Amino acid sequence: MIELLSPSTVDATARVLTDHGFSVFGISTTALTRSVCDDAVRENGPVALIARVGDEVRGVAVAIVDAPRYWKKFMFRHPLFACRVLGKRNKSSRNDAERLAAGVDAEGDAAAFAVNWNESSPHVARVSLIVVSSSSRGCGLGAEMYEAMFDHLRARGVVTVLARIGAANTASLQLHRKTGWTLGRRGARWQALKEL
Ligand SMILES: CC(C)(COP(=O)(O)OP(=O)(O)OC[C@H]1O[C@@H](n2cnc3c(N)ncnc32)[C@H](O)[C@@H]1OP(=O)(O)O)[C@@H](O)C(=O)NCCC(=O)NCCS
Repeated sequence: MIELLSPSTVDATARVLTDHGFSVFGISTTALTRSVCDDAVRENGPVALIARVGDEVRGVAVAIVDAPRYWKKFMFRHPLFACRVLGKRNKSSRNDAERLAAGVDAEGDAAAFAVNWNESSPHVARVSLIVVSSSSRGCGLGAEMYEAMFDHLRARGVVTVLARIGAANTASLQLHRKTGWTLGRRGARWQALKEL
């Protein structure tokens, strides 16, 4: 059964996300995961869907509408997290500059980059994570969660959804192909774009 996260499933869902190393800006902590889940059960928070069998959460998908704005506000509410992000950002912007100077391989559809990952818009959502527990993979739960996610995002006025996928993540690439995303790769990462 695919359903929206509710207060009674926050604990189990946060555990699944933490076990899977849910991370934001390269930072992964239990408190961060729990805060995002708590926000998801509030009005206009992140859209979090779970695939539940009995009491067990077998899959979770989280997408954030206007993610840059959400994270900006999140950092005001969580200043310690903000400090860690700033520390990381200084390092990674140096790495990005080096990577771009070296040039990167590209593949796939350039249209996947039609929307900038960091663009702030109430009509754009970013997938933070989609995960299915290892014993339930390949049974269609990932695709089902995405289809339900698209309906919820449409109802929130979203027209474009973005996701990022590691170049070697065959299962995730296949899931995105199956659910109708446009895919383009630069370097070690694919960007996926879905028009709703
Ligand atoms: C990616 C993930 C969410 C897919 O969930 P899932 O429930 O197994 O996906 P589905 O069963 O709906 O399958 C969707 C498509 O992917 C294919 N697929 C699933 N696992 C696959 C694998 N390991 N290799 C190749 N294709 C795979 C399915 O066959 C299906 O395509 P098809 O119907 O055309 O054959 C799951 O593998 C997962 O949790 N991975 C770890 C977390 C992760 O990497 N998340 C994505 C971050 S971007």
